Amino acid sequence: MLYDYQLLKLIHIFSSTFLWGTGVGTAFFMVMAHLSNNTETIQRTTKHVVIADWLFTTPAFIIQPISGYFLMEVLNYSFKSQWFFVVAALYSIMAIAWFPVVYLQDQMRKLTKNLNATDELPARYHALFKRWISLGFPAGIAVISLFVLMVYKPWLV
Ligand code: HEM
Repeated sequence: MLYDYQLLKLIHIFSSTFLWGTGVGTAFFMVMAHLSNNTETIQRTTKHVVIADWLFTTPAFIIQPISGYFLMEVLNYSFKSQWFFVVAALYSIMAIAWFPVVYLQDQMRKLTKNLNATDELPARYHALFKRWISLGFPAGIAVISLFVLMVYKPWLV
């Protein structure tokens, strides 16, 4: 066999924990910081969330489809199957939602960077946060659906 199935699957699953875990973790801290309404907390949290996304989510986001592709090859799963079609569609939906999420986080970081702890949060911050949360939901639902598809593997013929 050209590629080692267990090693590929280990990489794939390990990477999925970073993708999902960092996503949920950073979302939690962003919401908590927002609810605190404390400018300094929001400043620090957005800064750290942007770093966490570069360090953990971005590599996982790249590794996931690559390791998935090689797993498909090793297992001889059909790229013409309905399963793969739905997986590819959901992954694309996740990507379409996730790219603006990363952008919005960075905008919130830049916007709050030079504020003093006692400064009011600008109206633009609240607008960015609303958009960020409304995009986070479809991305999260897409990843949960992907987990289900990975484990149950329906329509894989
Ligand atoms: C981007 C496209 C993806 C492709 C082409 C893909 C493909 C695959 C393949 C072929 C397997 C092996 C199934 C088996 O051993 O029979 C697998 C397993 C798995 N994938 Fe993906 N995957 C993708 C994305 C994801 C994502 C985004 C996640 C979660 C964040 C994920 C989580 C998992 C998990 C947890 C398993 C283990 C399932 C099991 O052993 O039953 N995958 N994937």
